[in-house]
Amino acid sequence: MKALRVIFAASTALAAATAAHATDLEVTHWWTSGGEAAAVAEFAKAFDATGNKWVDGAIAGSGGTARPIMISRITGGDPMGATQFNHGRQAEELVEAGLMRDLSDVAAEGNWAEIVRPSSLLDSCTLDGKVYCVPVNIHSQQWLWLNNSVFENAGLAVPTNWDEYVAAAPKLEEAGIVPLAMGQQPWQTTLAFQVLLVALAGPEAYTAVFGDKDADLASGPEMAKVFAAADKARDMAKNSNVQNWNDATNMVITGKAAGQIMGDWAQGEFAVAEQVAGKDYTCLPGLGVNEVIMTGGDAFYFPKVDDADVTAAQGELAKVMISPETQVAFNLKKGSLPVRGDVDLNAANDCMRKGLDILAGGNIIQAPDQLLSADSLTQVNDLFVEFFNNPGMSAEDAQKQFASIISSAD
Ligand code: GAL
Repeated sequence: MKALRVIFAASTALAAATAAHATDLEVTHWWTSGGEAAAVAEFAKAFDATGNKWVDGAIAGSGGTARPIMISRITGGDPMGATQFNHGRQAEELVEAGLMRDLSDVAAEGNWAEIVRPSSLLDSCTLDGKVYCVPVNIHSQQWLWLNNSVFENAGLAVPTNWDEYVAAAPKLEEAGIVPLAMGQQPWQTTLAFQVLLVALAGPEAYTAVFGDKDADLASGPEMAKVFAAADKARDMAKNSNVQNWNDATNMVITGKAAGQIMGDWAQGEFAVAEQVAGKDYTCLPGLGVNEVIMTGGDAFYFPKVDDADVTAAQGELAKVMISPETQVAFNLKKGSLPVRGDVDLNAANDCMRKGLDILAGGNIIQAPDQLLSADSLTQVNDLFVEFFNNPGMSAEDAQKQFASIISSAD
């Protein structure tokens, strides 16, 4: 009898303790497509299992729309519990303003410096020696996604590289197929351009232009070839009139379009459509020319809040997001690679395996968000959305404007 009382007392205390600390935590992010929603649900499930409550703060319209809303809430004194940003410099000013929580204690306890790879992901979270975010995945923008049956039905082999893809375009158009699906949000047009740059001018040229701000290279003959290819891509995408990236992916999934240049978050959409990598669709890293992985992706930041329970729950969430089980569950659905190498990815599909092999081979480059300030990247986005939507803008004019942006970029 006495023993039972002890057990009852203990479980009541635990329930009380858990309940006492069961905290609702609002988490803002821009993951609203089918694949993104399926993936973020894995974070919510894992966090709820801690006894706390994930309060979903999804914002539609991708990062370009969501980030200004997140930033104004934090600077306006109405912070959420946690928020998504991309790896890199997007939260730099918030951290410098002292508005974001220092996570160094949680990072040290979790040994993140040992487990996170590549280390550049944790470097992107670190300012003045303090860690301000938990990296949750590696998303590479360096991919071309192709619908196999669209090519077969047009009597074409599925391309193995950019040149074969461009050569197939006239026959695809004859068959009433849009050769290249592209959404019209500015970041998508820059993404297509810099993937062409990495593939056709090489990863070193990309890093020299976006990283070292080499304006001479940006205005030079090597880059003129890339702008000529961008001009070709513009023509291949002229009948692609969707806005969101996942609507463009859906054009490929449904066979309205033959291909899309997009980050590997597109995988989540193919998965939701139950399409099989290698069988229904083909993925070409680096456009089948320069196989590299770009270490872009996502991290979660935690605004400072004067509430002990919320602060405790923020620490719990950070731990959960980087835990081996959650890393596998989330990344398999998201189409991204985990930030730690000590996890079992047996369930990874062909495309993720290609990504993992390239990552293991060390052929990696940093993302524009890690190399350019948010302001400079916005200028580049504005140029390319203009270029891809205005056939009157010549490749030469666009290159001139690009070189001038790079010459004053930070
Ligand atoms: C990126 C983000 C990805 C993906 C994509 C499209 O910025 O890193 O996780 O969701 O936006 O929304």
